Amino acid sequence: MTNQLIDLEAQLEALQQEAKSAIAATDTLERLEELRVVYLGKKGQLSVLLRGMGQLSAEERPRIGALVNTVKEVLQTGLEQQRQNLQLRQIQTQLDAETLDVTMPAVYRPIGRRHPLNSTIDRALDIFVGLGYTVAQGPEMETDYYNFEALNFLPDHPARDMQDTLYLSDGNLLRTHTSTVQIRYMEDNEPPIRIAAPGRVYRRDTVDATHSAVFHQIEILAVDEELTFTDLKGTVKVFLQELFGDVPIRFRASYFPFTEPSAEVDVQWNGRWLEVMGCGMVDPNVLVAVGYDPEIYTGFAAGFGVERLAMVLHQIDDIRRLYSSDLRFLQQF
Ligand code: DAH
Repeated sequence: MTNQLIDLEAQLEALQQEAKSAIAATDTLERLEELRVVYLGKKGQLSVLLRGMGQLSAEERPRIGALVNTVKEVLQTGLEQQRQNLQLRQIQTQLDAETLDVTMPAVYRPIGRRHPLNSTIDRALDIFVGLGYTVAQGPEMETDYYNFEALNFLPDHPARDMQDTLYLSDGNLLRTHTSTVQIRYMEDNEPPIRIAAPGRVYRRDTVDATHSAVFHQIEILAVDEELTFTDLKGTVKVFLQELFGDVPIRFRASYFPFTEPSAEVDVQWNGRWLEVMGCGMVDPNVLVAVGYDPEIYTGFAAGFGVERLAMVLHQIDDIRRLYSSDLRFLQQF
């Protein structure tokens, strides 16, 4: 054996040792690729050593050739194993970083809900729309004409005192009821008419558990040929039974300037009679005021307070709860 052969074998041996530990110590795939180039690349250390083969004898060459192949295989296997290790480690790191802790408390997103007043209005309107009614609206600031005169309140009629009116400095007023919408709608439309008009109304009332200076009403008006009190009764009955279920209801004779005859309606609720609305046949004077011929047309009207209905339906003890925006209250609906 020549010295060169011994020398070369020793160098290959050393190269393999060095490369193996370098490979095992890499911690990134990039660094591993660098090492592959350093040891096995075209200009790598193994190639450099192979150049020394030229000085070997013909018998020695196969021996070194076999050794080189072994070293090459050992390094390739080492590189591949380390590559797999590093890849696994990378995946594991990523998994750790992206792990979802399902036991962590979630971000709280409060869900809004409908205010009991709005849901009561919606329920009532749904029922009337189902009966073929159209939803109508009118202004909250009104003239004496729409709030009183056209509705057959005579100038010094005591009925004006029934409703404590808030007057504005310009002579206008804040409507005391949604009956104003009857007049406005009839002025702009010809019969047949079926409307339901929800809205805010204002009264000079002292606020307490059952009174508020601002509250809501829904007004119903139907005008057609041959409408009778029976149609009114049937409509009111269907509405109240849709809302309250199959409860007893009764009509009590009453008085309103804009209806003749007039009635108030009670439902039996929790063992007692509760007044829920006023209604009646539209007074001929009202029809004349909007230019309808009372010889051809008759009509019926009804009006009710939304707060009252909401309080009865939801057992609310104080009207002020509906306006206080207290979430502990509102979240119950
Ligand atoms: N406008 C009346 C009020 O505010 C309620 C009312 C009674 C409306 C009888 C009507 C009706 O349409 O026919 O007290």
